[in-house]
Amino acid sequence: MAADKMFWRLLCLVVGLCIVWRLCEPVAPAIDRHGVSSHNLVEHDLAFNRLDGGFVRKLLQDEDEEHFDERLLRELVDKINRSSLNPMPETAEERCFLTRGSWCTQYLTQAAEPRLLPTYFDKPCPRNCSGVGVCNHEYGLCFCPAGYGGEDCSQPRKRPCHHMGTGKRDAGWHNLTAWSHTRCAGVCDDDVAMCYCPPGTKYGRIEAPPGAALGTPPLQQGRPLFMCTPGTDEAGRKVEWGGTPYQDIFGPEGWCNAEKPAFKCPCRLDGLGGSTCSEIREQVCVNQCSGHGQCNQGFCKCYEGWYGMDCGLRRAGKVDEEGDEMLAKPWISDVMTHVVATEDPPMTPERRRPYIYVYDIKPDFSTDIMQYRIEGSHCVYRSFEKANKSVWVGYNAYSVEPVLHELFLTSEHRTLNPEEADYFYVPVSVGCLFDVYGWNEIPRWPRNILGTRSHGAAMLQREAMRWLNATFPWFARRGGRDHIWLNPHDEGACYVWKDIWPGVMLSHWGRTDFPHASNTAYSQDNYSLPLHHPLHPGDWLEHTSKAHPCFDPEKDLVIPAFKQPSHYRKSPYMGMVGPVTRTIFAFFQGDLRMEPGRDPACRYSRCIRQRMYNLSKDQLWKEKYDIWYGDRKDMDSNFDYSEMLSRSTFCFVLPGDGWSPRLEDSVLHGCIPVIIMDQVQVAFENIMDMDQFSVRIGEGELDRIVEILQAISPEQIQTMQDNINKVWHRFRYLGIRMATLEVRQRLQQYRENHDEDAPKNPGSEHMVSRQDDAFDTIIQWLHYRMPFVHKATKQ
Ligand SMILES: *[C@@H]1O[C@H](CO)[C@@H](O)[C@H](O)[C@H]1NC(C)=O
Ligand SMILES: *[C@@H]1O[C@H](CO)[C@@H](O)[C@H](O)[C@H]1NC(C)=O
Ligand SMILES: *[C@@H]1O[C@H](CO)[C@@H](O)[C@H](O)[C@H]1NC(C)=O
Ligand SMILES: *[C@@H]1O[C@H](CO)[C@@H](O)[C@H](O)[C@H]1NC(C)=O
Ligand SMILES: *[C@@H]1O[C@H](CO)[C@@H](O)[C@H](O)[C@H]1NC(C)=O
Ligand SMILES: *[C@@H]1O[C@H](CO)[C@@H](O)[C@H](O)[C@H]1NC(C)=O
Ligand SMILES: *[C@@H]1O[C@H](CO)[C@@H](O)[C@H](O)[C@H]1NC(C)=O
Repeated sequence: MAADKMFWRLLCLVVGLCIVWRLCEPVAPAIDRHGVSSHNLVEHDLAFNRLDGGFVRKLLQDEDEEHFDERLLRELVDKINRSSLNPMPETAEERCFLTRGSWCTQYLTQAAEPRLLPTYFDKPCPRNCSGVGVCNHEYGLCFCPAGYGGEDCSQPRKRPCHHMGTGKRDAGWHNLTAWSHTRCAGVCDDDVAMCYCPPGTKYGRIEAPPGAALGTPPLQQGRPLFMCTPGTDEAGRKVEWGGTPYQDIFGPEGWCNAEKPAFKCPCRLDGLGGSTCSEIREQVCVNQCSGHGQCNQGFCKCYEGWYGMDCGLRRAGKVDEEGDEMLAKPWISDVMTHVVATEDPPMTPERRRPYIYVYDIKPDFSTDIMQYRIEGSHCVYRSFEKANKSVWVGYNAYSVEPVLHELFLTSEHRTLNPEEADYFYVPVSVGCLFDVYGWNEIPRWPRNILGTRSHGAAMLQREAMRWLNATFPWFARRGGRDHIWLNPHDEGACYVWKDIWPGVMLSHWGRTDFPHASNTAYSQDNYSLPLHHPLHPGDWLEHTSKAHPCFDPEKDLVIPAFKQPSHYRKSPYMGMVGPVTRTIFAFFQGDLRMEPGRDPACRYSRCIRQRMYNLSKDQLWKEKYDIWYGDRKDMDSNFDYSEMLSRSTFCFVLPGDGWSPRLEDSVLHGCIPVIIMDQVQVAFENIMDMDQFSVRIGEGELDRIVEILQAISPEQIQTMQDNINKVWHRFRYLGIRMATLEVRQRLQQYRENHDEDAPKNPGSEHMVSRQDDAFDTIIQWLHYRMPFVHKATKQ
């Protein structure tokens, strides 16, 4: 690496001086995406930054707040240079290590094209969307928040609570209907089916006065009454669907009346916190409405002149940055990722294919589902805590859905011009639907039945596709082959509607056998249950799972699950533990579901985890071989998952209900994956030389696991470990702002702790660079697929 390039890169790592982080990343000379040295670019951007007015905001992305001092910087750089990470791979050959075929090199060696100015649109919307919705000026369509509909958002589009009568109150507490989460003892916000303390109580909801403008918020939101239902009425008569003593809710010392109530109902709605649920917090929206709108439970209400699901698009003719919240709401800058496609003038002057157009999707299939959440932690990967501090959501298995949406929106490969698009990303909230489905009558797809969640998800995608196909020419143009659909759920794309199947299916579940049937242990997800409905002729199975396999290695991709950096904080790649000693021979910790009666047919994990557990006991794995296997209670009390993975030579990759992100866990910790699931591919298996850094054992060979692993020589083990060091970064996503900030903080902290003696663990050079990360890998593969997708030729 050229010395001056190294200098600027190191500078960026620690000081965060670069305005656009990507500029800091090393690029091979032949494929330098900017055509000028990084050095020049940094100065160029600083110059921009000195401009007053409009441009400053767009340049805020990477902490240009830092004032710097030449001497201090020099000292820092010297220090880093002594205790630094290893150099990054640069040449195409190095970067494409262990990739199969030519997808990686083809991408890296393509010629760059100049980035054009963004395209601006100015189509008006009917009646300005009544001041309630957001006008998409490209489509000329109003996108309305939950509760509002019609072409101008003036029509009610309600989501009543279960068994709601007049006045948004329950139709009779003593009528026992089917149990529902939205049975409401207070007053219902029937835009989204959320229950609050009723009017007349001190902390009850007070609606906006009659005649107030459409969309006016309530005068008092009220304390939530979600999952908090009385066991009796005032007179003591039993209410079948409740359990809480009446006085605890409605009494003078109760939740709805007392300033400091003795009994507290749950406070789980996004945007509320504190012991009485009265602390107002920022809510979560895609890319936080780009600072150009008000976030309402996932719906961005954009300020005048801005539009898009993330308010990231500027209406033609709008020149000022009015409505910019970066300064008014400083907490937003920690979670907002810079959008390259809207740079004007382009600060990233060149671009490479593929060009990807990100649809704005009708709320029915996207933001409505977000707004129907009753748990703040559903459907998102982050939230705002006390004082609006950003935190990761503890666990959301499908978090790749919001992550990929933001990554596509902010990507250098995004185009605002569908004419030139090589691909179309369809951001429907299908993973989110799984959290929301079945709690209330709406949304269900179709709306009048309660089928399996799989049926609902397939119908939602089908309806979204029909809307796209009826509204734009793009779906029909290439037979839908260039449309990218994400299927984050447990059994991936096994049951998608056959009309969308020609598209690119991204999922975590690479099951290849056909015909196939659901293997879920959760009956609500059984996609093999027959279902007839007037909206489709015959059995839905004929349109879905019986029509295609779960995964087609030629046109689809198994992508890694999203893991926040703290998940692998003890990994040697995070620099945190120094040189690793892997004293545990093999490791697995996870759900076993072996309690009597829990899973009588032993379906979960195809019974692999359970059979292995019994083997581990029979063969004394821990005592004789240092193999740690089991669920949480089989581990030590001070057990730390990340540390265990870092200390293990082999880690088992076993299915869960469908996919389980164990390949990611192993690789991110430098542990050699031992994959046991026949005819199921793991992440990137069709595009990487998986054999060079993993072991596969057949389901029929479980008895011989120890024997097989022991037969692997120390040299083979060393080779596989060396290989993982060079590819692990392809299995994690770094592009979103929060992840980037976290890894930088961790690196800095590590340096402070170790000063000059910080060990250079092999592989840790990738720690803070998003070069060739999981998202880049997806993009590189999409590039390679372009000719097949465009011309419908076979591979
Ligand atoms: C880092 O150290 C190397 C070797 O000591 C030296 O050649 C190089 O110039 C240094 N780089 C910077 C940016 O100081
Ligand atoms: C359109 O509605 C927005 C609110 O969504 C409002 O700020 C704006 O002034 C309205 N414009 C016109 C021309 O009525
Ligand atoms: C609820 O029960 C009352 C009294 O039995 C009855 O009059 C009313 O029709 C019921 N309402 C509903 C919505 O079932
Ligand atoms: C957090 O954000 C909300 C919504 O923007 C705001 O009303 C509130 O004042 C903020 N809280 C703090 C402590 O800044
Ligand atoms: C898309 O629309 C075209 C034109 O209306 C129609 O011929 C085609 O069948 C539609 N495709 C699907 C999958 O519905
Ligand atoms: C799913 O439903 C089908 C049809 O009823 C049944 O045969 C199958 O055993 C079920 N599968 C699971 C995993 O429960
Ligand atoms: C595991 O062993 C227990 C106890 O002997 C037995 O009940 C269970 O069926 C075994 N499970 C499997 C999957 O072998």
